[in-house]
Amino acid sequence: MRLIIVKNYQELSLLGAERIAERITGSSRKKPFVLGLPTGSTPLGIYRELIRLHREGKLSFKAVITFNMDEYLGLSAGHPQSYHTFMEENFFRHVDIDRANIHILDGETGDPEGECAAYEEAIRAAGGIDLFLGGMGEDGHIAFNEPFSSLSSRTRVKTLTEDTRAVNARFFGGDMNQVPRAALTVGVGTVMDAGELLIAASGRNKARALRDAVEGAVSHRCPLSCIQNHPKATVICDEAAAAELDAGTAAYFKTLERDALERAALLRPAVPEQTGQVPGA
Ligand code: GLP
Repeated sequence: MRLIIVKNYQELSLLGAERIAERITGSSRKKPFVLGLPTGSTPLGIYRELIRLHREGKLSFKAVITFNMDEYLGLSAGHPQSYHTFMEENFFRHVDIDRANIHILDGETGDPEGECAAYEEAIRAAGGIDLFLGGMGEDGHIAFNEPFSSLSSRTRVKTLTEDTRAVNARFFGGDMNQVPRAALTVGVGTVMDAGELLIAASGRNKARALRDAVEGAVSHRCPLSCIQNHPKATVICDEAAAAELDAGTAAYFKTLERDALERAALLRPAVPEQTGQVPGA
């Protein structure tokens, strides 16, 4: 596992987008690149940077197939808080992706089990996910795999914890009762099958879960700890999210990644400092 600790959210966003762009542009022209995508506040900056690269003519999504991680059960695609709407507004409508290549679980399905099985099948048919970008919950969840999810789980319906619904209430006018009680989500096993994992973590509120995922035992108590068993997982986090790591752990990874970070900075065109707040952080 690689752990890249960067100064702040802006750095995290730049670096995350650069890694994704590098993989897409470097991929073989024979097969579309298959990208797994999350929602949440954390990936917003990465989406913003990917959109910038696209506008600058440096990145095309024409040969990219996407699979989103999850969707609330019971929300229509057009609901303002659905993950369909989130993805459309924050990413898809700004890039040149072919609509037929976008996959998001249908929260309004009358057959959740069939929908989940078909999703797994669609991922297989696309040749598997090449890179899965993910965020993390404050309790260490990945996608909507709450604590004590099986580490070999596949796409299925998951009941959301009170904690997750409380955290996500900010998107529903602060009213936890408006947050759906369940979601359709890829499983931990589905995420683990991806060729590469890129996990982004920002802010002090993620520090405990990040520590558990990176330094704790691999356990269903912290589903994100599964990354320890992935052959190609990278976590990019800012200083705030790294705050609870042992000093020795942080120092080790900082030394290890120093050269890579310096190289990335040298390659980057000068961009004006962005001062955007992470929404809801
Ligand atoms: C939701 C999503 C997760 C995401 C998490 C954290 O629970 N299902 O995929 O990682 O939110 O979101 P944020 O980045 O807003 O903290």
